[in-house]
Amino acid sequence: MYLGLDLGTSGLRGILVDGEDRVLAEAEAQYPVSHPHPGWSEQDPAHWITALHQVLADLGAQAPGGLADLRALAFAGHMHGAVLLDRQGAVLRPCILWNDSRAADQADRLDADPAFRARTGNIVFPGFTAPKLAWVAAHEPALFDRVHKVLLPKDYLVWHLTGVAASEMSDAAGTGWLDTGARDWADDLLAATGLGRDHMPALFEGCDVVAPVSPARADALGLPRGVRVVAGAADNAAAACGAGALAEGQGFVSLGTSGVILTARDGFHPRPATAVHSFCHAVPGRWYQMGVMLAATDSLNWLARLLGDSPAVLTEGLGGGLRPPGAVRFLPYLSGERTPHNDSAVRGAFLGLDIADTRGDLVQGVIEGVSFGLRDSLEALRSAGADPAQLLAIGGGTGSAYWVDLLATVLGVPLVLPARGEFGAALGAARLARCGDSGADPETVMRPPRIARVVEPDPALQPAFDAAYGMFRDSYGALKAMPG
Ligand code: XUL
Repeated sequence: MYLGLDLGTSGLRGILVDGEDRVLAEAEAQYPVSHPHPGWSEQDPAHWITALHQVLADLGAQAPGGLADLRALAFAGHMHGAVLLDRQGAVLRPCILWNDSRAADQADRLDADPAFRARTGNIVFPGFTAPKLAWVAAHEPALFDRVHKVLLPKDYLVWHLTGVAASEMSDAAGTGWLDTGARDWADDLLAATGLGRDHMPALFEGCDVVAPVSPARADALGLPRGVRVVAGAADNAAAACGAGALAEGQGFVSLGTSGVILTARDGFHPRPATAVHSFCHAVPGRWYQMGVMLAATDSLNWLARLLGDSPAVLTEGLGGGLRPPGAVRFLPYLSGERTPHNDSAVRGAFLGLDIADTRGDLVQGVIEGVSFGLRDSLEALRSAGADPAQLLAIGGGTGSAYWVDLLATVLGVPLVLPARGEFGAALGAARLARCGDSGADPETVMRPPRIARVVEPDPALQPAFDAAYGMFRDSYGALKAMPG
């Protein structure tokens, strides 16, 4: 038995699977995010440990025999967060999360040093870990001096279970301190933020065994002695493992709170100027690239809140059958944007509103705007040399058949919809645990899910959507030119 645990932004989800990916039990426990100031986003790592106890207790109640047979576990986790430990291993302050924008000035300063893009292959985004530490050094200097180790969120749980400060390539690549091509910490980049290699965890590949769960933790959590902790992966890399996206050209589009288009790459082909993220994959010798938009289904959730209806009701109201693009244009920058603009200050807009417009026109405008934002990411990936022939479509937004038809046509690639079942980050983590424990080849373990259907782009409507996308692209320039 293997356990995959996905440390998400709002909760920890665990699945217990057998050696054939069959799910025996699943459980989830929630925890809050705090926003003590505008743009701040923090979480107390103690809540993750409470959630770990809850999830294991729940899994144990559902499948006591399964947990007793557990051989290995691994975590997937939200990226870029900074858990700061002192010499005794105490947490020094709440974890600053991936969607925290306080370090924008520090990010600009680090990004202006050409060594960062040259080594990491990425823009230093405000959400990355390195600018967070630069912020702590500037604003909490006494605390900064006490920092003994900097751990990523899921790696804090690995440390809690094993006592080993460990990370792996896919999460380390999102810090701003990794030489992503060489898969090693970059000493000069660490030095630029007042840190050294000693502050960082040891690096593993995602399918390497870190250590067994310590006997005391095993007893406290109701785990058998000797369960191995495998290094695991950043959430997106783990999702790629769950979705079977390992080899060049395989990838997915995720219509979640944030939107992601990810394609696996056989080599490291950075193109930082496009604001595409180029990160190590969770298995040796592979990388992946992704475009990230910050408000995907979050844009529709926002509209749904204002209109007092659920997102599902709003998209159902569009009916079936894809229509030509509407005249209402929505720029989905409600939280700023990463790919392709790297602009944490920009905000969204509706354009082309008419006195006759209905709520349906606004809904159509919003989901078209989000789809065009994802097309921006796909174009950025294409300019970096990644060109997926098709994409697995995952995430809550794919529950709307209209949106899937629209997205296939806007992106101009067939979208593959998985059959019901497990294919997410928790499964990816469980698969890494299996590879680490059994030595199985990741290429044979990370299989794509069963397919429910394939949605082709609508060739009759593609020219109209291409033209509308062109207008969407131009609108960003107009928005930037506005005082504000
Ligand atoms: C990726 C990113 C998010 C987080 C949260 O760069 O910031 O996907 O990992 O899930």
